[in-house]
Amino acid sequence: MKEGNRPIGLLDSGVGGLTVAREIALSLPEEELVYYGDTLHLPYGPRTREEVRGFVFKIIDFLIEEKRAKTIVLACNTATAFTLEEARRRYPVPVFGTLDGACKKAVRESRNQKIGVIGTEGTINSQAYQRALLELDERLQVFATACPRFVELVEEGNFAGREVFDTANRYLDGLKGAGIDVLILGCTHFPYLIPVIRRVMGDKVTLINPAVEMAGEVKKWLKQEGLARQNGSHQEQISQQEFLISDMKRISKTFLEKGSKFLKLPSLNFTEKNIFEGEEDDS
Ligand code: DGL
Repeated sequence: MKEGNRPIGLLDSGVGGLTVAREIALSLPEEELVYYGDTLHLPYGPRTREEVRGFVFKIIDFLIEEKRAKTIVLACNTATAFTLEEARRRYPVPVFGTLDGACKKAVRESRNQKIGVIGTEGTINSQAYQRALLELDERLQVFATACPRFVELVEEGNFAGREVFDTANRYLDGLKGAGIDVLILGCTHFPYLIPVIRRVMGDKVTLINPAVEMAGEVKKWLKQEGLARQNGSHQEQISQQEFLISDMKRISKTFLEKGSKFLKLPSLNFTEKNIFEGEEDDS
């Protein structure tokens, strides 16, 4: 197989990273994607760095060794916050994370230098976003809030309605009060909730979805390295997307119905592939 015709490997704890898969599929429709959602260990947010590190490296090993991924996209902020630096040293292929592009964009967009970040407890407590933003501009005021319930709502396929709106109001009230003009959606599950988040935050606050920046970074890299997929034979022209998950029981029917509509991916058929079998079940 030509080097460039190997797939792009993506991973997340569940269906959140599909928001990144969508942006990559839109911007690079010819590329083959292999997505791994670790529903067996969802949510990653409340877990320790060590636990998340173990799961993430196991998935990357699988994507590189068995799927021959030409690059890895950490389509998960918690995984990025906990493992990006080490993963970049550890693997022979480039590893993309959620943080860098989103932070640069947030700094460019903000007029009043008050930036909000929402994410899982793991991401927010790691201070990864806060540090990355302040490194770009030390005059910034950064306001960060963990929103773990958002992850559950999305996994349940619950993207709108009273409960989502009330939860969003509760989580985002402090950020509104702080007068931020940019809000980073620092969890790949959150873009499903953009309509509700926008309603709560109002039109004057710019929402940053890191997936958009990530797709741009991957595209640039493929071009630079000459590793874009070459459409040669008829067989090669049909790009594929493979969606694997570690536990099928944890995918909700409602998510499948609403998620595929939201994601506009050509197909959203999950296959169960438990690469953790035989390991102690600590989920
Ligand atoms: N979607 C993930 C993130 O971006 C993780 C959500 C979770 O498993 O807690 O952080």
